[in-house]
Amino acid sequence: MQGTMTAKFSEEMLKRIEEILKRYATKRAAVLPVLYLAQKEFGCINDTALAAVSRALKISRADVYGLATFYSMFHEEPLGRNVIFLCDNLACTLLGAESLRDHLEKKLDIRMGETTADGRFTLKNAECLGACGQAPVMLVNDDFYEGLTEARIDEVLEKYK
Ligand code: FES
Repeated sequence: MQGTMTAKFSEEMLKRIEEILKRYATKRAAVLPVLYLAQKEFGCINDTALAAVSRALKISRADVYGLATFYSMFHEEPLGRNVIFLCDNLACTLLGAESLRDHLEKKLDIRMGETTADGRFTLKNAECLGACGQAPVMLVNDDFYEGLTEARIDEVLEKYK
């Protein structure tokens, strides 16, 4: 919890929060957009970010934490510059997602959920990405890749620095 007593948003973020609060009936209702700003400012939703949101909105850290962990777009650890979401649901698994996961883990030298030492990639698993007919699939940031093979993955990774 070190440093959380003084955890604060920058002046610029505080102004943006003020603007957001004008659009909501209560401070509590603004938690999601403010968490989003916190993730931008602090790089992830760590103790410092939780404390800053709690302080800015005057709601308990436990409440902020509960919401942050409910929504998958908030991360407790800083992410890499590029985030790979590999689908591991049924259709993708039947068509080889497990061996693609092994391939990615070996190639990037990390395990699922981790970030490479150079901060270039974070590897995450995803629930069905809604493209079972093109399985196996993955997302890299906002880019969608389907019909994956190990060779195709190698090619795709080259595009992201
Ligand atoms: S199971 Fe992978 S996209 Fe549906």
